[in-house]
Amino acid sequence: MQTDATKLDRTLLGRIFPIGSHRDSQGILTIGGVPVTRLVDEHGSPLYVFDEETIRAQCRAYTRPLTSNYPDSLVLYAAKAHADPTVASIVASEGLGMDTVSSGEIRVGLAGGMPPERMVFHGNNKLEREIEYALAVGIGRIVADSLDELDLIEDVAKSREQIAPVILRITPGVEAHTHDYIRTGAIDSKFGLPLESGAAEAAVERAMRASCIDLTGLHAHIGSQVFDLEPYADTVNIILDFALEMKHRYGLNLRDFSPGGGFGICYGESDDPPDAHEFVTTISHAIDQRNVTPKPRLLIEPGRSIIARSGVALYRVGTIKDIPGVRTYVSIDGGMADNIRPALYGAQYSAVIANRVSANKLETVTVAGRYCESGDVVLRDINLPPMVRGDILAIPAAGAYHMAMASNYNLVGRPATVLVNDGTVRVTRPRETDEDLLLGFSQPEL
Ligand code: LLP
Repeated sequence: MQTDATKLDRTLLGRIFPIGSHRDSQGILTIGGVPVTRLVDEHGSPLYVFDEETIRAQCRAYTRPLTSNYPDSLVLYAAKAHADPTVASIVASEGLGMDTVSSGEIRVGLAGGMPPERMVFHGNNKLEREIEYALAVGIGRIVADSLDELDLIEDVAKSREQIAPVILRITPGVEAHTHDYIRTGAIDSKFGLPLESGAAEAAVERAMRASCIDLTGLHAHIGSQVFDLEPYADTVNIILDFALEMKHRYGLNLRDFSPGGGFGICYGESDDPPDAHEFVTTISHAIDQRNVTPKPRLLIEPGRSIIARSGVALYRVGTIKDIPGVRTYVSIDGGMADNIRPALYGAQYSAVIANRVSANKLETVTVAGRYCESGDVVLRDINLPPMVRGDILAIPAAGAYHMAMASNYNLVGRPATVLVNDGTVRVTRPRETDEDLLLGFSQPEL
């Protein structure tokens, strides 16, 4: 853990907090040109702050190297990481498309001005009405996840007298070293058509014969928060081998190829993932080495690595309970309902006391959430300066899979989100109030 202010700057403020975050002359954490004390005073806590400059920079971290290495490509922002029309509009203006997994996410894309043809519809059990909706709005591609789903897409397309543009999701059998719950490329997965069982080949054959399906290509996704480059190169080779076989056997013309997303990011100072440039170069070189002609369009699907760093969770410190000889619990006003990741995956985070960023005297504490569950611990055994009620705790790398997975457990409203940019602040999602929550129910007959 951090021991001095200089190191704090270099590791946390330099790599994990949004670009341009700094400690101002009064020791207050400033994000996007706005002191977080002001943000919490004006918008309350918990508060999720997103920095526009960082979102744009992360988009460009992918689009720039692709422009030179693989121009016929499209970066799809995986909206499951954080679905918000404002974010959709920012990534659309950076030339990205969107990976969606529900009609809700497709609507978010459309509300953000994302062109439907730049959206791809994923999911292992898309509903019939969602497939209908996707086709009605002119979605770019539907990724079929099973033979059964391929038939459903064909039926819906037929009834609409439409041709559905379809990509098949293949399970490549590649082991990505990440948490079990977020690993998807291995054979025992609910996602995709396994190569080994013959399901992938059967799907190609069926899709090539189907009158209302235009099979445009193949997709694979090996997992999330992946730190290794080799599994991506392996995936490219496995899928391109398969594509070649399918070309010879069934005349498949591979127009789209996607090795998915999952590129890992930094949550703490010990994390050292490859950067976007290295992921992109590994994938594009692996394709280049195969001399595929014509070269397919490359689709990649980063979610977390586009949005996580731009987001910071701000909480107020409340009750502090010292159990002598055991541990000190510092409770905050949020927790597992806005960030399920520590409880679900054992995810580890960093933190600073944002109203007085300094780290000269440290003590080991455990930061607990407010929810009625012993497992609601956000930071276990973290070294932080002594805290008092009312301090603001800032957790960086909070932009992905926090608000997107948030719940109303204990019937607590979800936090507000704001977007900061060069000194300006915009509320992108108002805080849910108790009244909002009650409006979600029918009134009982009294
Ligand atoms: N493409 C597909 C087909 C996916 O299933 C996913 C993530 C992505 C792209 C984007 O992956 P990313 O670049 O964001 O890693 N809730 C978990 C992560 C679940 C990922 C689900 N699929 C977490 O909080 O770590």
